[in-house]
Amino acid sequence: MKLIAGNSNRALAEAVSAYLNVPLTQANVKRFADMEVFVEIMENVRGEDCFFIQSTSYPANDHLMELLIAIDALKRGSARRITAVIPYFGYARQDRKTGGRTPISARLVANLIEAAGVDRVLTMELHAGQIQGFFNIPVDNLISAPVFVPQMKEKFNGEELCVVSPDVGGVVRARALAKRLNADLAIIDKRREKAGVSEVMNVIGDVKKKVCILVDDIVDSGGTLCNAAGALKDKGAKEVHAYVVHGVLSGGAVARVASSPLESLVVTDSIAPTEAVRVAHNIEVLSVASLMGEAVRRTSEERSISALFR
Ligand code: R5P
Repeated sequence: MKLIAGNSNRALAEAVSAYLNVPLTQANVKRFADMEVFVEIMENVRGEDCFFIQSTSYPANDHLMELLIAIDALKRGSARRITAVIPYFGYARQDRKTGGRTPISARLVANLIEAAGVDRVLTMELHAGQIQGFFNIPVDNLISAPVFVPQMKEKFNGEELCVVSPDVGGVVRARALAKRLNADLAIIDKRREKAGVSEVMNVIGDVKKKVCILVDDIVDSGGTLCNAAGALKDKGAKEVHAYVVHGVLSGGAVARVASSPLESLVVTDSIAPTEAVRVAHNIEVLSVASLMGEAVRRTSEERSISALFR
């Protein structure tokens, strides 16, 4: 097996390498003076089972190009099999036409990755599971439960819990987690009655005096989570915590979370945390390195990945 890291999340790639006890293959991922991307794999990969680790996080376009060009380099280096390990799959939110003459960028990105010559994709908590169908090659979409659930069970032991989806789109994820925790389920239904009038947050379910756990795939501006936390507190929730897989946390998100009613926000290192995230008093980062590493190992050994989630 050969593990190769892109520039998006070197720390996670090193942690996966440590978990597997497989060194990272030397590779130069660099720029020409005009910022074109250049990749050179410094070791022989002929006949090898290659895993290229790269999140297509900010700056998404640069990291995507690195991924595509690295796949091409591995293919032309006669790798036996290439798996793109994409802990955070950017562009996933553009998974349908949202209006006339708009793109389905998630599909386009899937086409680009496949055209570059990848054999498999290993990713985690896609914004919509159906994105797997945008590829004509196998896609393993890991769930974050093995990373989050043990901490939730310990942290909220003895509390009356309610898992909350901050929007209707996240209900399947929230329901699955509620089942694992044997907790209640609530859903926030956001409605804008008229253009220009601010959204109304309807909480569906009983959250009074309960510890609420908001779960989502992405926290970007933090608006969805912070507004949801406010609505839950208004309905009498005892405490509100959030577990979100991909901490995009752009713009003023960290400050917004800090001044929100959220007691805590837990994200993973699918995206390399910025300094602001690392020092934030109410944000914690859990690592997915062992989960990703185990999935890489099982892919390489042709063993079941779904067995990890039973
Ligand atoms: C949307 O469908 C996603 O699941 C997230 O809820 C959304 O991307 C969060 O964005 P923001 O943090 O900017 O509200």
